[in-house]
Amino acid sequence: MRKKIVVGNWKMNKTVAEASELASAILEHLGNSTLLCEVGIAPAFPALTEVGKVIGSSDIRLAAQNCHYEDDGAYTGEISVRMLESLGCAYVIIGHSERRQYFGETNRTVNLRVRKALAEGMQVIMCVGETLEEREGGITDKIVTEQVREGLKDVGDLGGVVLAYEPVWAIGTGKTATPEQAEEVHASIRATISDMFGESAAGNLRIQYGGSVKPSNAVELFAMPNIDGGLIGGASLKAEDFVAIVKAAG
Ligand code: G3H
Repeated sequence: MRKKIVVGNWKMNKTVAEASELASAILEHLGNSTLLCEVGIAPAFPALTEVGKVIGSSDIRLAAQNCHYEDDGAYTGEISVRMLESLGCAYVIIGHSERRQYFGETNRTVNLRVRKALAEGMQVIMCVGETLEEREGGITDKIVTEQVREGLKDVGDLGGVVLAYEPVWAIGTGKTATPEQAEEVHASIRATISDMFGESAAGNLRIQYGGSVKPSNAVELFAMPNIDGGLIGGASLKAEDFVAIVKAAG
C-alpha cells in the first residue's frame, strides 16, 4: 500500500511574511487531524527558512521548487542541493513544466538535477506532462514516456523519487484531467517504471497528479488506483482549500 503524498507548490507567490502566515494557517486548519498521507509545502526560496521554523517539528515536510546540479561555483541565481539541505528541505521539485517552458529545462538537465539531489540524499518530485498540442497530436504517451526514461536515466534506486504527472494544459487553467484521463497516463508511467526498474519498484513508486486540483475534484482523482496524491498549485495558496485536499488523500 503506497502512502499518498500531497505537496503544495506555492510557485512565485508570497513574501516571507505572507508565506509564514500561510504556513501557520495550514497548521491551524490541520489541527489535531491524524493524517494518513504525507504532506509537504514548497514556498519560494526566500521563505524556506521562516516557513521551516513555522512548521517546525510538525509532520509537514519542507520542499524546494528547484535545485542546481552542481555543488557550488559560478552559477549566478542558482541554488545547490546542499544549500537546500541546510535549510531543512526534505524534498525538491524538479522539472516542473514551468521550468521546462520558461527556463529551458530539458530532460537532460532534469536528469542531472535528479541524480544530484538523490546523491545528496534529498527526495525528489520529478514532474512530467504533455502540452495541449501534444495531447491533441496523440503523442501524450510518447512524450511522457520519454520524460520518464530520460529524467530517470542512470538512477539506480527509486527509493527517494516521487513522480508528478502534470498535463500542462491543466495547470492553472481550471481544466482538470478527468480521473480516467489521469489514471490512464499514471498506469502507463507505472508500466514504464516497471520496465526500467522492475515490478516491485514500480509498485512502490508514488505518482502524484497535478493540474487544477481543488477540494471539489480531489476525492475522485485520489480514488484512482494509480494516483497517489497531488502536487497542488493555486489551491495550495488558500490554507482551507489545501487542507481540504490533504484530507481528501486520507
Ligand atoms: O505544481 C503544481 C501544478 O503546476 C498545478 O498547478 O494546481 O495551479 O493547476 P495548479
